[in-house]
Amino acid sequence: MYSVGIIGCTGAVGQEMIRVLGERNFPMNELHLFASSRSAGKKFETSLGEIEVEEFELEKAKNLDIVLMAVSGDFAKQYGPQIAEGKAIVIDNSSAFRYEENIPLVVPEINANKAKGAKLIANPNCTTLILAVALYPIHREFNVKKTIVSTYQATSGGGAPAMAELEEQTKNYLEGKEVTNEKFAHPIPFNLIPQIDKFQENGYTKEEMKVTWETRKIFGEEDMLISCTAVRIPTFRAHAESVTIETEKEITPEQAREILAKAPGVKVVDNPDELEYPMPLTATKQFDVEAGRIRQSLVFDKNGIDFFVCGDQILKGAALNAVQIAECLV
Ligand SMILES: NC(=O)c1ccc[n+]([C@@H]2O[C@H](COP(=O)([O-])OP(=O)(O)OC[C@H]3O[C@@H](n4cnc5c(N)ncnc54)[C@H](OP(=O)(O)O)[C@@H]3O)[C@@H](O)[C@H]2O)c1
Repeated sequence: MYSVGIIGCTGAVGQEMIRVLGERNFPMNELHLFASSRSAGKKFETSLGEIEVEEFELEKAKNLDIVLMAVSGDFAKQYGPQIAEGKAIVIDNSSAFRYEENIPLVVPEINANKAKGAKLIANPNCTTLILAVALYPIHREFNVKKTIVSTYQATSGGGAPAMAELEEQTKNYLEGKEVTNEKFAHPIPFNLIPQIDKFQENGYTKEEMKVTWETRKIFGEEDMLISCTAVRIPTFRAHAESVTIETEKEITPEQAREILAKAPGVKVVDNPDELEYPMPLTATKQFDVEAGRIRQSLVFDKNGIDFFVCGDQILKGAALNAVQIAECLV
C-alpha cells in the first residue's frame, strides 16, 4: 500500500484525481490533500473517507511515496525537483518539465516503460494526450507522415476559474448585462477564440506548438510533421479535435476503425446513420477518448484519412493519465 499526495487538490484537475484514485482502487492507505493557505481546512470526500485540505508543506510531500502535482508550472518548477529529492516519486501535470531531455513524458498506452525508475515524470498536455492515444496505434501500422489538427477546446482547460467565467458571463449575456473577460483574451460566451496560450515567433501559439513538440517526444519521432490550430470554444468540458493524416502505407477507413476498436483508451463512436459521433457531451466523464467520423481523405486519397476525436481533457488529458502513470509504478 502506498502513501499518496495531491498538490492542487481543489482545482479542476486535483478534484478529478481524488475521484480517479478512488474509482480505480489505487492501492493507497494514506492520502494527503494539499492546496494553498486559501483552501486549508476545506474537507473533501475520498475513497479513504473525509479528508481535510492541508496547506502545502515541502517536508510532508517529500516523505510520501507518490505525489501528483496539479498546480501551475511555476509552482511545479520550484517544488517538483525538491519533492523528488525525498522519498517521493513526482508526477507533474504542468508543462514545467515536459521538454527536459532526462524527464520522461508518459502516456501509459504508448510508452509506459519510460516511467520505470524515474523520480520525476511529466504528464503531457491535454490536447496532445487526446490526439496521441488515437494517433499512435494508426502510426504503428501505417506510418503517419503528416498530421494536421484543428482543436475545439473546452473552457475548463484553463482551470476551474475559466469554467466559472463561461458560466457567469453567459448569464450576464442572457440578462443583457455587460460581458467581461479575465481568463480569456476576449469574451467567451457565444464566441470562439483562435488563441490558447501565447503567440510564438513562428505565428503558432504555445498550445499549438505543444502538440507538435510533445507528440514527437512521446512517439520518439523527432521529425514527425504535425501542425495544429488550437481554438477555445464555449463548452465546459472535453476537448474535440479534427485530424487529417497522410500515411506512408495505404489505409482505408475500415482498417483505421478496426485498429482503433482494439486500441486501449479509445472507444470508436462512428455510426453516422444513427447520428453517433464523438462529442463533448458524450465524452465528458469518460475514461476513453471517443474516435469517429473516420473517412478516406479527399486530399491524400488512399494514403490518408480524416477523423474526429473527443476526450475528457481533465480525465485522460490530466488526472486519469497521471493516475495511470502511478499505476505503472506500483
Ligand atoms: N484543466 C485542465 O484541463 C488541465 C489539463 C491538463 C493539464 N492541466 C494542468 O494542470 C495544472 C492544474 O490545472 P487546473 O486546471 O486544475 O488549475 P486550477 O483549477 O486553477 O487549480 C489550481 C490548484 O493549484 C492550487 N494552488 C495554487 N497556489 C498554490 C500554492 N501556493 N500552494 C499549493 N497549492 C496551490 C490551488 O489551490 P487553492 O484552492 O488553494 O487556490 C488549486 O488547487 C496546471 O499546470 C494545468 O496547466 C490542466
